[in-house]
Amino acid sequence: MKTLILAGGSGTRLFPLSRICYPKQFIPLIDAESLFQKSVRRALLFSEPDEITIVTNELHRFLVADQLEEMHVHCPILSEPQGKNTLPAITYGISAILKEDPDARVAVISSDQLITPDETYKSAFMAAEQLAEKYLVAFGITPDSPHTGYGYIRPGAPLDGGYTVEAFVEKPDQQTAESYLRDGYLWNAGMFLFSATLFMDECRKHAPEVAEAFTLSRDEAFQKTPKISVDYGIMEKTDKAAVVPLSVPWSDVGSFEALYSVHSKGENGNAVRGEYLGMESQNNLVISDRLVATIGIRDCAIIDSPDALLVCPRSESQRVGEITGLLTERG
Ligand code: GDD
Ligand code: MG
Repeated sequence: MKTLILAGGSGTRLFPLSRICYPKQFIPLIDAESLFQKSVRRALLFSEPDEITIVTNELHRFLVADQLEEMHVHCPILSEPQGKNTLPAITYGISAILKEDPDARVAVISSDQLITPDETYKSAFMAAEQLAEKYLVAFGITPDSPHTGYGYIRPGAPLDGGYTVEAFVEKPDQQTAESYLRDGYLWNAGMFLFSATLFMDECRKHAPEVAEAFTLSRDEAFQKTPKISVDYGIMEKTDKAAVVPLSVPWSDVGSFEALYSVHSKGENGNAVRGEYLGMESQNNLVISDRLVATIGIRDCAIIDSPDALLVCPRSESQRVGEITGLLTERG
């Protein structure tokens, strides 16, 4: 099976760790391996190295190459002259794969998630591969909160190994998310399994401007294509979607709150990378190469980097992305 790894996002809510030149997927967030490297390891469960294609921004091509080198894995890298979100990235990758193999089945995986891959993970992909001839297959996670940053899937009729998709709704508002939680919707895990041919057919049907752009040269294609995610561009519109439930530990580590929840905790509930002295301090996330000391601080994220320091209540971590906006405005 082929795999496309999407590694072009920016992860602005993890400032100051994540920067435009060094986005979240390339940071060793949890241990010595970056989320991108972990995604390569997952891909290796069902693809040979030369069947894996990385799609990333031109800016990060060398970062990708270095991190692959560290793992002694050699796979093709496709670079985008500008980030136009996931639909163009996938269409670019799948167009390249189609030239060599019109029958290809392609697993599309994100590089910004923390997943513990096991037999369940692998067998979900195997089940999806069987459905991919007729369906664009998504993977469904059982939600535990009305998170508004995810896609929601209403499963329909049972299929062998999964369900048809009755509705796919990307990033609903809070109230809608709450009702979806009650109604048994699943979260879209942000991974897919596509037949290359079926994907291109559906792309021509639902996002013709994207499909058309990718008949041109790379640079023209990225100039012409609209900026749109695969979720809005195809998954919400197609009537050929299926979902395979996936019950593995999964987090998209989209914020310091999410990072805190997956991180191991020491005494007093503090999650620490580096050296930390916390007096009467509890439940903090502390990341720093310097010694950090606090007195009476609770439930905060203290994130140090060589040129910037962030301190905020953990509960405000969803707002950290606003900082990148303010910095860009300031120039
Ligand atoms: N190559 C490339 N180019 N990759 C990209 C681009 C791009 O322009 N934009 C985003 N990516 C990569 C990101 O690095 C990430 O690995 C993946 O594509 C998904 O993009 P995100 O921007 O992180 O999407 P999201 O988290 O808002 O939403 C998606 O994932 C959720 C689960 O984490 C959607 O698929 C949701 O429906 C889903 O629930
Ligand atoms: Mg994401």
